[in-house]
Amino acid sequence: MCGIIGYVGHKNDPRIGLDALKRLEYRGYDSAGMAYYNSKTKKITANKAVGRISFLENKLNAKKLEGSPFIYHTRWATHGAPIQKNAHPHADCTGNFYLAHNGIIENYLQLRDWLKNKGHSFKSETDTEVLVHLIEHNFKGDLFNAVKVSLARVTGTYGIAVISSKAPGELIAARLGSPLLIGVAKDGHFVASDPAGILAHTKKVVYLEDGEIAKLNADEMHILNKNTFKEPEVEEIEWNLEEAQKGGYPHFMLKEIMEQPSSIRETFRGRLILRDGNVKLGGLELVQEKLKQIKKLHIIACGTAYYAGMVGKYMLEEYAGIPTEVELGSEFRYRKPIFDKKDSAVICISQSGETADTIAPLKEAKNRGVLTLGIVNVVGSTIARETDAGVYNHAGPEIGVASTKALTSQLTALAMLTVFLGRQRQMSHTMGKRIVEEIEKLPKLVESVLAEKEKIKKFARKYKNYPNMLYLGRKYNYPIALEGALKVKEISYMHAEGYAGGEMKHGPIALIEESFPTMAIMPKDSVYEKMVSNIEELKARSGPIIAVTTRGNKSVGHLSKDVIYIPKTLEMLTPIISVIPLQLFAYYVGVFRGLNVDKPRNLAKSVTVE
Ligand code: M6R
Repeated sequence: MCGIIGYVGHKNDPRIGLDALKRLEYRGYDSAGMAYYNSKTKKITANKAVGRISFLENKLNAKKLEGSPFIYHTRWATHGAPIQKNAHPHADCTGNFYLAHNGIIENYLQLRDWLKNKGHSFKSETDTEVLVHLIEHNFKGDLFNAVKVSLARVTGTYGIAVISSKAPGELIAARLGSPLLIGVAKDGHFVASDPAGILAHTKKVVYLEDGEIAKLNADEMHILNKNTFKEPEVEEIEWNLEEAQKGGYPHFMLKEIMEQPSSIRETFRGRLILRDGNVKLGGLELVQEKLKQIKKLHIIACGTAYYAGMVGKYMLEEYAGIPTEVELGSEFRYRKPIFDKKDSAVICISQSGETADTIAPLKEAKNRGVLTLGIVNVVGSTIARETDAGVYNHAGPEIGVASTKALTSQLTALAMLTVFLGRQRQMSHTMGKRIVEEIEKLPKLVESVLAEKEKIKKFARKYKNYPNMLYLGRKYNYPIALEGALKVKEISYMHAEGYAGGEMKHGPIALIEESFPTMAIMPKDSVYEKMVSNIEELKARSGPIIAVTTRGNKSVGHLSKDVIYIPKTLEMLTPIISVIPLQLFAYYVGVFRGLNVDKPRNLAKSVTVE
């Protein structure tokens, strides 16, 4: 989720790219940089700064900038810490070529070794840098061709912008899996990772399609699509700036819910090895021998990440055979936990990587000499740095206060971790393969639930004025009941309780009457019949029911007419699917109640205090 801006044209002022870049800061930032063809020196000049774009701005304020083309980049780290040498644009050995990249080059380690053998030297820890060295290697006088030949060797995703002192007046752009568009302005052409960056300059855009490469100069645009140059289709953007930043959605929360097919795909991209029935988690390689000895896991997290951990416990115990405890960071830090330092490992789950209540137990575990792992979204955050090893989510920045795509990414990472640890132990090749194959199908399954958005919206309209709601689930979907209740509480301020289905008869059933509806999460799994019995008891007490169940299951009809169907998957993966309608339901109830769903009252995105 980095941001890219590029320009080639008659304006000789690279500073215009800075304002454009600021419009992309919402996509996440840990550093920013720019490079431009300096019309005085006839070379490329680059500037970079760690932190907010304003830090780069301060650097540029002190300089005289003159020339075109230019490229700018705001980074959301995936490979390599958020430090200056990892900030884009990246250069080749000679400093003649500069490149800004959004995406992940999956085969960068092989390419780096190959390039090192050819004499190239690398300055950063990023996956991106290999691409600019490849371009240097392949340059035979034609920049466009060098980019084209280099991209053919790359696997992964990219949106790129490239400039070179060997091709002044040219800007090359290409995309595969990461968005990129061309802005058609009066005085030249822009390149941007989303329209928000260039709206101030033009509303005319050409969206690049996957696999396309564009060659731009001040007056011309040529787009190569599958070996033939095509006629560009210019579209007019109708969004204002705020709408553009939200990708046309009314709220970041809805945008992030709808992004889940791609954020889940990014989480497992390059990590599933179908043939071996296994996964490759690069961040655990250094500790993999130690992990073979682990006999007990302690998962520590807060809020939604804690519910992810609860699902993880079911996965890890059932499939990897490792006893697992899950605990709230805020509780763990004040008790006297018993660790066996040789045999235990702590796993901290956190989207932000900055949650104070999760950091404190992490420090305690480290002091006691226990192996610590992280499942973290924000690269370079405190938890990512302090843990011995870990798995990055790669879900992209989450801006809405509600955790949505972070949760499904955490669950995907936990499923992969289960395969990793399971295959080190007793998990068979067949079982590993089965799980890995099902993980790969998740984006499509999630997409099919998102397609039911309008139906879920209708249910939200119907139930929006109820003062209370109950969420019930069992086994893998018990934590999802807790999550559904948390979501509707924080986003719509409706009072909601999450319970394990079997617990109803131990007290809460006393609440049930006509005015107390229940969201029953009851996919056709190993506890389905048990859930049916629990829900029958509520129906007998006139409690309205919304059922979330597996497609094709006709047997819920007698319990309720309000049914949301989800596709079938492995039981351990159902939470990744079943949580989607609950997110949409909470979102729409909040919207119908006229609330600010992106910034609910009294809440912060990252809870850095106790
Ligand atoms: O950044 P973290 O994942 O550590 O945050 C943990 C919780 O604060 C977070 O999940 C919170 O519960 C969300 N607002 C839930 O939507």
